[in-house]
Amino acid sequence: MSKREKTTRAIDGAEMARQAEATREVAALVRQEGHPLSYVIVTYGCQMNAHDSENLAGMLQEMGIEPAPCREEADLVIYNTCCVRENAERRALGNVTWLKELKKTRPGLLVGVCGCMIQQQGMAQRILDQYPFVDVAFGTHNLYRFPELLHRALSTRGRVVEVAEDHGGIPEELPVRRVSPFRAYLTIMYGCDNFCSYCIVPYVRGRERSRGPEAILAEARGLFDEGVQEIMLLGQNVNSYGNDLGGATRFPELLAELDGVGIPRIRFMTSHPKDLSDGLIEVMAQGKHICHALHLPVQAGSDAVLASMRRGYTRAQYLERVETLRARIPDIALTTDLIVAYPGETEQDFADTLSLAQEVRYHAAFTFVYSPRPGTLAADLPDCVSAQVAKERIEELIRLQKGITTQWNRAYVGQEQQILVEELSKRDATQVAGKNEYGITVNFPGDGSLIGQFARVGILSAAETTLRGQMISGS
Ligand code: SAH
Ligand code: SF4
Ligand code: F3S
Repeated sequence: MSKREKTTRAIDGAEMARQAEATREVAALVRQEGHPLSYVIVTYGCQMNAHDSENLAGMLQEMGIEPAPCREEADLVIYNTCCVRENAERRALGNVTWLKELKKTRPGLLVGVCGCMIQQQGMAQRILDQYPFVDVAFGTHNLYRFPELLHRALSTRGRVVEVAEDHGGIPEELPVRRVSPFRAYLTIMYGCDNFCSYCIVPYVRGRERSRGPEAILAEARGLFDEGVQEIMLLGQNVNSYGNDLGGATRFPELLAELDGVGIPRIRFMTSHPKDLSDGLIEVMAQGKHICHALHLPVQAGSDAVLASMRRGYTRAQYLERVETLRARIPDIALTTDLIVAYPGETEQDFADTLSLAQEVRYHAAFTFVYSPRPGTLAADLPDCVSAQVAKERIEELIRLQKGITTQWNRAYVGQEQQILVEELSKRDATQVAGKNEYGITVNFPGDGSLIGQFARVGILSAAETTLRGQMISGS
């Protein structure tokens, strides 16, 4: 067996059976307690982490452990952490430390920490040495072993810290308790091979590995049968889906097949611009259910910065992809990620980022100040941009983007759009909030019976980031 084949296998049945056994053992311990145990999971970071938390919640449900209304009332609090930028990490650690105080008044409280931050080199030791009130800690590669780890912690009342190396295995059929009954995450691949100079994700999520297409399609059909209205396909770089499987199913083929399942809305993230093929654009254009919305992170507008970031495309190549997308799918809504103050970023480099944002006219942009991550290539680069300049640059970029977002939103006024209603509006309970195909939030008068349904809505006005409308008809 080649190394590549080895790295794309499902985790073996005996290991998964051990977890099922540990689940039953925890359930038995919970019953002995004489009262139901409860949990809270606090999630940081991206959709991958959000979905991992749904899997943890699924495992807990099978153990008979139920959600608590708040951290203060929970028997078990788990922090699922992110380390993509320093402030994400600082926030997570700060909150974990807050539990130290809570534990003084509630010694029975069990504290768990998992996710990308724990997967960093040296972190397991740091947890053991500096965070004695953490009872269970595990990384991204052994999340599926949570039942066994929790069982050990509960039965010994000792600390259990386990971080695994990247073993290339895929845990299939994990239990899941989804946040929403009508919107679902569907993981199609794990890890990333790109090693962009600034990014820690490949170090904490491991090498790229794709799930088999049959497993993905089976999950999608199951979701359709359950009445799910929208799926979000997940992967750090979905455009390289299937490259490690060696078969005929790459991302465009997979997407076309998923389009045939019948789920009304399909979204996916994240697309790497260097791998965005004409074939994929064609599938998006012809699909019946694929939303005309694409997150296409550019990161920077200057060729020098893009090269140093090892993004694998130039500004001109990126702009060409955007042009092709818009020619084939004229109503496509593009969003992006942008980093300012990358080491050595000059005034001119930054001006190139501004001009690119102006030229593409994104619907929305997530903007970040560069944050050095230990172990990445960029962490050793000279010429750090000062915090003051970084602040000025990000503020200027945000100002520019806000104006563009507002212009897009105004352009929707007068249109009729299909809205998938998600919840009662937070500010006004006589209103509901949902999203249009382009991912923009639309508020309109309505009640809770609309949640999870599509409604046809006339757009009446635009605020800075959201739209207001009036329902014309239900689905
Ligand atoms: N796989 C996705 C997302 C990765 S993380 C992609 O390739 O686009 C999400 C975003 O965080 C990135 O797109 C990038 O803009 C930002 N990011 C990652 N590392 C960062 C760092 N060290 N400093 C600032 N922003 C960072
Ligand atoms: Fe990070 Fe680049 Fe991979 Fe995205 S593609 S996860 S930015 S290394
Ligand atoms: Fe953060 Fe890990 Fe996602 S580092 S951005 S939670 S993959």
